[in-house]
Amino acid sequence: MSIARCPACICGGLPNLQDRDDSTHPMPIFRILRLNRQHMARLLLLVILTTASSVVLLVVPWMAGHLLGTMVTGQEGALKGAVGVLAACLVAIAMLSFLTADRMVRMSAALLAELRERIFDHVQRLPMAFHDSRGKGDMLAVMTIEIAKLSEFVAVTLVAVPARLLTAIGAMIVMFTIDARLALLIPTIVPLFYLATKIVGRRLQGLAVQIQQADARAIALSDEALQIVPATKAFGQEAAQYDRYRQTVRKLEGLMVRQGRIYAALDPLISLIAAFAALAVLWFAGHDVSDGRMTASELFSFMFYAALLTRPVGSLAHLYGQIQTARGALARLSAVLAEPTEDVGAAQASRRPRAHGAIEFRNVHFAYAGRDPVLTGVDLRVGAAERIAILGANGAGKTAMINLLMRYYDPQVGAIFVDGEDSRTMGLSALRDRIGLVPQSALLFNATIRENIAFGAVGASQQMIDDAARLAQALDFVASLPYGMDTVIGDCGLRLSGGQRQRIALARALIKDPAIIIFDEATSMFDDEGEEAFIDACNDALHGRTVILVTHRPATLALANRIVTLEDGRIRELRADERRLQKVSA
Ligand SMILES: Nc1ncnc2c1ncn2[C@@H]1O[C@H](COP(=O)(O)OP(=O)(O)O)[C@@H](O)[C@H]1O
Ligand SMILES: [Mg+2]
Repeated sequence: MSIARCPACICGGLPNLQDRDDSTHPMPIFRILRLNRQHMARLLLLVILTTASSVVLLVVPWMAGHLLGTMVTGQEGALKGAVGVLAACLVAIAMLSFLTADRMVRMSAALLAELRERIFDHVQRLPMAFHDSRGKGDMLAVMTIEIAKLSEFVAVTLVAVPARLLTAIGAMIVMFTIDARLALLIPTIVPLFYLATKIVGRRLQGLAVQIQQADARAIALSDEALQIVPATKAFGQEAAQYDRYRQTVRKLEGLMVRQGRIYAALDPLISLIAAFAALAVLWFAGHDVSDGRMTASELFSFMFYAALLTRPVGSLAHLYGQIQTARGALARLSAVLAEPTEDVGAAQASRRPRAHGAIEFRNVHFAYAGRDPVLTGVDLRVGAAERIAILGANGAGKTAMINLLMRYYDPQVGAIFVDGEDSRTMGLSALRDRIGLVPQSALLFNATIRENIAFGAVGASQQMIDDAARLAQALDFVASLPYGMDTVIGDCGLRLSGGQRQRIALARALIKDPAIIIFDEATSMFDDEGEEAFIDACNDALHGRTVILVTHRPATLALANRIVTLEDGRIRELRADERRLQKVSA
């Protein structure tokens, strides 16, 4: 999918984002956020609210000037009316700002929730090759802080821009009507504002990108560190890990201080320019008032409008930095959302005749992106209900074969057939539905055992869960846990032993009643006794299914009725004498 160039997006078509892999031009913000009519209506309401505030705000200096003017000239009657109008304006502003803030929070919360749901759904449907290429922390950063920045930018910053412009333009128009000659002073300071924003903006641009990167790295590091706590302890790496993390967050601190200083300088700078302009006005206006060409009211109003003008001008200058930040977030988000997801096809298992589980690898060649070939012409036929063991050295490509069978990746050459059908044409869900995979690491999540087993099949009943647990020989140890099936097992099943984890992984695979079952070194965690018991039990559970065993364990080999090896990227049948040797050692 290519990303359309977008005149509508906030970056105004500027292509240069100094960023790693996100050099693609971002999608328009409105497309990213999927702003529908309802959203637009809400955004419009916000624009109306902020604009209404700004209109009322424009009345205030006029009235305040008038009030002061009448005080100076001592017209008691006019005073009352002016105070009344002014009070009403202040109440209106207070109410409007409550409404605006309330609506803004709702809007940005809603946008954030929608964006979160959307990106979560998208990311987990992206192919394995994508996940290989992107760091997890990087993705976490996009899925959390980046989209938060973006939704806030739209719902809080962007919607207020029309009102700010209105305030600025309105103030200037009124100033012109009060005294065109004095008002002409204002355009003369515009270049100064422009210059200030320009200088500041250039510095902010690079900082925004660097801050995002450091933020993402900090998230990545904490995520990683939490995952490898036991290794950190075992190898005494606490200090080194801390150092790594510290460097990143301190760098982030430095960047934020630099950014903060620029913003901190911006406001006083703009105030200063405005104050000098006001002084200039006073200088010139003094004569006008004393000459009677200008009333005191007009002068006061004029000054108040000048003060009012500095606010939107200041925030418009801030906008520049905010746009830089949003632009970075947008680019990253676009890059992720532009990635095509896997098409899993319709879930149609019920309409299919029961799968038999025959598998054929036909001249399969495969290399991971940017790596040397792993498989170079794999040919392998596995009959339905056959049990085959695949041996091979570490890194020979056994898991790669399984990954191809599951279609986590596709081969560059050749094809894989399941029940006679090319696996690329049968639909991912139809393919994956008939395979029960017990992977090397069990991939459990922090929930109950029941929930972890039920993960194997959508809508699994209690009976199915219990049956699967029994078949996987998990009932005994489950019974010994404090809450049985309802015991929560910790992150990745942290609170279970390796063998227990694998039994749950097997129960999870069995619950979908797959025609094909694969153990990818999944018995490696058992002790010998445990393995034998496991194998005994498996004989029942595996009955009638095609079984692929990726293993080195002799006991598991006893399960197989055929043994092949994967060497130099190809499959070789074990000769009879070699086979006898393997079986004897079993
Ligand atoms: N996601 C990946 N990206 C790139 N290379 C990989 C990936 N996974 C594994 N490899 C490499 O592919 C080769 C085969 O790995 P694998 O199939 O896991 O071996 P094994 O036979 O031990 O299961 C190894 O050299 C490994 O380094
Ligand atoms: Mg492997």
